[in-house]
Amino acid sequence: MKKLSLAVSLMLAPCLAQAWPWSRDMANQISVKPQESPDPANPGMTPFPKRSVPVAGTTVLVEDIDAAKKMVNPVKADARSVQTGKHLFQIYCTPCHGFSGTGDGLVGQKLIMQPFNLTSSNTMHSWQSPDYPDGYIFGYMTLGGAVMPSYANDLSPTERWHVVNYVRQVLQKVPADVTAAQSK
Ligand code: HEC
Repeated sequence: MKKLSLAVSLMLAPCLAQAWPWSRDMANQISVKPQESPDPANPGMTPFPKRSVPVAGTTVLVEDIDAAKKMVNPVKADARSVQTGKHLFQIYCTPCHGFSGTGDGLVGQKLIMQPFNLTSSNTMHSWQSPDYPDGYIFGYMTLGGAVMPSYANDLSPTERWHVVNYVRQVLQKVPADVTAAQSK
C-alpha cells in the first residue's frame, strides 16, 4: 500500500508542478501575445473596419485529379505570369524535375521513382492531349503524387497557375494560342 501511494504521488508530481507560480514565468513576459494589441492604450484586437464582410475563395479545394482536370486556368499566360512561374518553379520544382523540366534534378535522382518529364520530350504521353490539360498540372501540384509531395500549402492557387503557365509556355514550348484555346 505504501509503495502504491508513493507511486501515485510520484505520478501526480509533474501535474502539480505545473501549478507553481514559476512554471508560467516564461509565458508571463512583455512580448505581445496572440490577438493582443501592441498599443497598451487600445488593448485587444484591432476591430474590423465598419461594414467589412468575410470573403470566400481564399483557398481552393480540389477533390481529386479528375476534378482538377476540369478546372479552367484563370490566370492569363502573359509575360509577367510566366516570369513569376519560372521563379517559383526554380524554387519548388527544380530539385526533382531539374531546370530543364525533364526530371534530372539532383534530389529526383535519389528517389525510388524518377520524377516525370514535364517537357514535350515526355515519351509516356503527349502534353497536347486533352487528357493533360492545365488543370492536370495544377492538380498534381495541389494533390501530389505517389512520391511527389503536395504543394497546396506552399504555393497559393494563383501561384500554382503561374507555374502551370511557365511549364506550358517555356518547358513545353506550346505556342500561346494553343494554351489560350485550352484554357477557354
Ligand atoms: C521531391 C521531388 C519532387 C518535387 C520537388 C516536385 N515533383 Fe513533380 N513529380 C515527382 C515525381 C517522383 C513524380 C512521378 C509521379 C508521382 O510521384 O506520382 C512527379 C510527377 C509530376 C507530374 C506528373 C507528370 C506526368 O507526366 O503525369 C507533374 C505535372 C509534376 N510532377 C509537377 C511538379 C511541379 C510543377 C513541381 C513544383 C511545384 C513539382 N512537380 C515538384 C517529384 C517531385
